[in-house]
Amino acid sequence: MVKICCIGAGYVGGPTMAVIAFKCPEIEVVVVDIAAPRINAWNSDHLPIYEPGLDDVVKQCRGKNLFFSTDVEKHVAEADIVFVSVNTPTKTQGLGAGKAADLTYWESAARMIADVSKSDKIVVEKSTVPVKTAEAIERILTHNRKGINFNILSNPEFLAEGTAIADLFNPDRVLIGGRETPEGQKAIKALKDVYAHWVPDDRILCTNLWSAELSKLAANAFLAQRISSVNAMSALCEATGADVSQVSHSIGTDSRIGPKFLNASVGFGGSCFQKDILNLVYICECNGLPEVANYWKQVIKVNDYQKTRFVNRVVSSMFNTVSGKKIAILGFAFKKDTGDTRETPAIDVCKGLLGDKAKLAIYDPQVTEEQILKDLSMKKFDWDHPAHLQPSSPTTSNKQVSVVWDAYEAIKDAHGICILTEWEEFKKLDYQKVYENMQKPAFVFDGRNVVDANKLREIGFIVYSIGKPL
Ligand code: NAD
Ligand code: UGA
Repeated sequence: MVKICCIGAGYVGGPTMAVIAFKCPEIEVVVVDIAAPRINAWNSDHLPIYEPGLDDVVKQCRGKNLFFSTDVEKHVAEADIVFVSVNTPTKTQGLGAGKAADLTYWESAARMIADVSKSDKIVVEKSTVPVKTAEAIERILTHNRKGINFNILSNPEFLAEGTAIADLFNPDRVLIGGRETPEGQKAIKALKDVYAHWVPDDRILCTNLWSAELSKLAANAFLAQRISSVNAMSALCEATGADVSQVSHSIGTDSRIGPKFLNASVGFGGSCFQKDILNLVYICECNGLPEVANYWKQVIKVNDYQKTRFVNRVVSSMFNTVSGKKIAILGFAFKKDTGDTRETPAIDVCKGLLGDKAKLAIYDPQVTEEQILKDLSMKKFDWDHPAHLQPSSPTTSNKQVSVVWDAYEAIKDAHGICILTEWEEFKKLDYQKVYENMQKPAFVFDGRNVVDANKLREIGFIVYSIGKPL
């Protein structure tokens, strides 16, 4: 029986390993983590992350060939293939702070693998890492243990949150990078055999290590660039009377451009786009390529501009002051169908409005009060460093913020509504009832273009949509 161990039971490690266990009943999969509360949650009825379809997959395999444990060393020692799916945050201090990837967690995992291993292993980079990381990891592994063969592979993950299970069941591609030596090719084949249980051969791409590492950063940079491009257009649409949905549709019908990922929004969020682009920018700078670095930096700058623009629009249209006014925030997660708030644009929008002394009533169907208050009191980039991943991290209360468990409660007596996540339920609210319960004039700022603005205007609302004429 092949034994797999995955270090890191997070948004990637948990779902990815659950799907491998589900599709490969003859493989034993153990997911390990240093965070005991996370492991306890994976072993309970309330999984630590919300992801459609995940519960079913976990319940079918847990206790059979899928296990979650804090006994990191034991399971790493026993495994044939060790995936490393730990967080790789942006450095907050020292050389490259604010840009470079912090590989502290990766390095400590690699050192531990070297220390506890008694047999040959394939070590798989699942985390997103800077190009050439495999070389550093190889050095750590081989220097610490003589006589044991470690083969390192890069197998970046392309799942998106909210659709993780569907993406894992039916990936556009699986990418495996390895050394171009006979041992490297043998390791690639071993990992390919795992995915071949359900992924067609032509969708498993094999490359050298550096291409695989860089492809992951490049894919996220290209995806984020599309959103910044359409968001830049949305500003021009608002200035000219063009409608960004019509522009997106028109350009998306060109088969060379394609229709996906062209929705204008309040800005992209999520744990990776910003972090991975900053990482790419840093690598370009370190390689003496400032023009390339500046090109990609602009994707982040436009994203920041879009969030600031949204806040400015709210404040300026509400007679240049939101001081003491109640504003309902509908949606806090960085996208629908997830409870994840990492780098959500809602944090910047809420902080911007709080800076102008607004009172916020926040509602999101999947995000807890504790999480929202923690997010609003944290410094940039601090969220991805383990002390803050623990539930015991301190949160400060904020008298300007209330978190409620119902959209109508958030809206009651509000002067304005900001829709920041595209949850389906926000499309289906009884807007007549909403209007009656609000202060007048009643404003709606739709940061996701989910409501029918014309219908709302008929009711009496003043509606601002992203990239649309008033
Ligand atoms: P996460 O923070 O949810 O999970 C990482 C886990 O690793 C945490 O639970 C942490 O406690 C654990 N950990 C850290 N150091 C450890 C150690 N030494 N030993 C054992 N456990 C340790 O992060 P994530 O969202 O799953 O992302 C992991 C990696 O995958 C990142 O590099 C990210 O860029 C990449 N990625 C994420 C996504 C996504 O959608 N979230 C998608 C593709 C790739
Ligand atoms: C993204 C990528 O899509 C995954 O392929 C990648 O594996 C992952 O990052 C990662 O490396 O972490 P994710 O961040 O989970 O996945 O979600 P996306 O669907 O890409 O959305 C990211 C952000 O862009 C969200 O805030 C979303 O609302 C926003 N977005 C997306 C738009 O504003 N407009 C769009 O058209 C699409």
